Amino acid sequence: MTSPIIIAITGAAGHIAYSLIPRIASGALFGPTQRVALRLIEIEAGMKPLQGVVMELHDSAFHLVESIEITSDPHVGFQGAHWAFLLGSLPRKAGMERKDLLSINGKIFVDQGRAIARHAASDIRVLVLGNPANTNCLIAMKNAPDVPMDRWYAMSRLDEDRARSLLAHRVHSHSRNVTKMAIWGNHSSTLYPDFEHACIDGKPVEEVINDRTWLENDFMTQVQQRGAAIIAARGLSSALSAANAAIETVRSIIEVTAENQWHSVSLCSDGSYGIDPGLISSFPTRSDGKHLSIVPEIPLSAFAKQKIKTTIEELREEKAMVTHLLPQ
Ligand code: NAI
Repeated sequence: MTSPIIIAITGAAGHIAYSLIPRIASGALFGPTQRVALRLIEIEAGMKPLQGVVMELHDSAFHLVESIEITSDPHVGFQGAHWAFLLGSLPRKAGMERKDLLSINGKIFVDQGRAIARHAASDIRVLVLGNPANTNCLIAMKNAPDVPMDRWYAMSRLDEDRARSLLAHRVHSHSRNVTKMAIWGNHSSTLYPDFEHACIDGKPVEEVINDRTWLENDFMTQVQQRGAAIIAARGLSSALSAANAAIETVRSIIEVTAENQWHSVSLCSDGSYGIDPGLISSFPTRSDGKHLSIVPEIPLSAFAKQKIKTTIEELREEKAMVTHLLPQ
């Protein structure tokens, strides 16, 4: 057995963490022989429920879990971490403007970015889920200038998986048969699910689903609004599927991407496809097992360009609202 991978998780008493931690602990992420050391980070108010989670983890006697530490101090929690999952953030409350949410949650990511830069392992990689995930990721990254920009990711895989599932259902296929389903832009209702390059059973989606009106309207809206539909049905936001998507995101980064496949990850734009360098945007990506790269030279239609323009404009607006949190 190799030495344990140290994994820091913020928001560890929250709903997503409750689904994510046991999967990491049972080897779904790093495999059935890789030991893990868990650093669970919460705010003071979350420490008591977090102690309950830890009791359950002990009661599960996971054979891969080397150690469990809990803390409300990010400087302790990120110590030596190889991977950080940033889930912790405050939910939007009634009467709160998007700008207020960005500012309140943004400050959390300033502190966490700084703590990661000071204390994490030199190979730290960070996946942000806490919303607004793309801009929070940008804030943390900018406050950790010593951590290379290609180590920061925000999650758009849940949107990809939702889109794959919807397409599969429409033609009575299976989501495993839906490939190259890219999400572009922001993890928000402006995201663009690129059905023009996706395939079902190896055939272009539009050949299999001969209904452009459905694809441009119902399909896109359902992907964009799926989070709200889950809240309406469950009374709580997606947690099981978000945790699964977090696992699949990291696997798509550390494992070699299958041929004829790509996956959606939000990462720091290098200017590809005219998307402002430095913005954290979702792109189709491929991994060689060590490096994650944006898939180059995908021909984009005028329709796609317009949709991507809209979602990138929203990312620019979010960035403009938090400039005071971004050191130059
Ligand atoms: P939750 O409200 O159940 O848990 C959040 C936890 O974060 C709470 O226990 C809270 O005490 C903790 N927290 C707040 N501030 C913190 C801080 N500064 N440090 C450490 N912990 C802190 O929320 P849930 O359902 O687990 O969701 C977590 C986040 O993930 C939310 O922002 C949600 O909107 C987002 N999300 C993102 C998705 C994506 O696709 N990117 C999908 C689904 C959810």
